[in-house]
Amino acid sequence: MPESYRRNSAVWSLALATLLPLVAGPAPAHAHEGEHDHPTVYAPAEHYRPTPLPDRLVLTWSDDPASSVDITYRTHPATEATICQWIEAADVFGDHRNGDIPESEEIEGTSELFESDLGECRMHSAKLRGLEPETRYAYRVGDGVNWTEWHHFTTASDEAKPFEFVYFGDAQNAVRALWSRVRREAHAEAPRAAFALHAGDLINNANTDAEWGEWHEAAGWLNGAIPTVAVPGNHEYFRRGLEPTVSDHWRPQFSFPMNGAAGLEETCYWFEYQGVRFVALDSNKRQAEQAEWLDRLLSDLPPAPWTILTFHHPIFSAAKNRDNATLRAIWKPIFDKHKVDLALTGHDHAYARSGLGGPADAENVAAGERRQEGQTVYVVSVSGPKNYQLGESWDVSRSGSGIQLYQTIRIDGDQLSYRAYRASGDLYDAFTIEKDDDGTPELIEETPPTEEIRR
Ligand SMILES: [Fe+2]
Repeated sequence: MPESYRRNSAVWSLALATLLPLVAGPAPAHAHEGEHDHPTVYAPAEHYRPTPLPDRLVLTWSDDPASSVDITYRTHPATEATICQWIEAADVFGDHRNGDIPESEEIEGTSELFESDLGECRMHSAKLRGLEPETRYAYRVGDGVNWTEWHHFTTASDEAKPFEFVYFGDAQNAVRALWSRVRREAHAEAPRAAFALHAGDLINNANTDAEWGEWHEAAGWLNGAIPTVAVPGNHEYFRRGLEPTVSDHWRPQFSFPMNGAAGLEETCYWFEYQGVRFVALDSNKRQAEQAEWLDRLLSDLPPAPWTILTFHHPIFSAAKNRDNATLRAIWKPIFDKHKVDLALTGHDHAYARSGLGGPADAENVAAGERRQEGQTVYVVSVSGPKNYQLGESWDVSRSGSGIQLYQTIRIDGDQLSYRAYRASGDLYDAFTIEKDDDGTPELIEETPPTEEIRR
């Protein structure tokens, strides 16, 4: 910088410093001399300190999506009351300018003290039951004085009807800084999504409260309006002694069905949404027990028109030098036997999507064989900024690396339409599965004619 400019700017700074208070009033407290030059990091313990106002609101289901919803949230530890008020949504509720709706119904939930690495808070849980199907409700939670805003959510139909949901691979890193935009683009693409599905590694360190704070902050009010479906990845696991244990945050902040394999409460479960069967598996442990459980479950239940699975570790890896051969050996035969349609996974920090039955491996490709047994389409995706190099060992229909993605999946009768979008909102991959009268699927490739992205 030339000396004259430096001197001039110093003169101007002095002039501005003299004039500004006259124009704009007194300078804010943080604008003292010297502080501008050395900003300090706003400490996570401050940023994510719980208050009497509820935060980290999450909607989930542990029961029928057509008649129930569960609400979990966090407050300061001294906030003992857990109150939820709800009412069928209306344009206006009368002249209640203080924000109260006296006609609303009210229930008390439960709470527990929770100790995170940043200190103590209280986790609350309220369960609404006996709701009407296909109905929009308004609700709020609080202690009777300190309330959230009134949120809207919509119950599922109790019949098979078209719907769409959004799916995310690993968010995991820079969740507030860079994942938030993916979550919000997905909402712009599918504002009436039935739910948001997260295939594990939502965060990086299982018990780091600030990372969970980032995850809740990135989704913001969406988590209070659109139910969450999630499975834990390896990064939601830690070792307590020798035992792999799911994050202490998992069960207090998510209320998932308790209908999975024994010992995997709220990490392995299933539910049905408007005729589609969803099964969440915990690929971190007890894989053989879950194979047995899944086989029994899908044998006992009447056949569903569509069965969609989600779990963290892919059956066919996308990234270089990665292969979950044991998982594939144990789980894939069950998927094939029960004609699973879609397996939505993460873990590899790259993108790969197969055709029906999965990709062919390199040897099969050389021998001219395209596909394996079964009819499952396997997807590995990533929504966060961590990037692994793509592997070359599988012949997939579409792959990519160095991109953050979100997916919308729409089911309408005998059609399932899948779209993968980049963080920019540009379409990256697409296909439709159509089933004939016998339930035999045909996959129609609709991948846009753009180059594969590999970084
Ligand atoms: Fe992972």
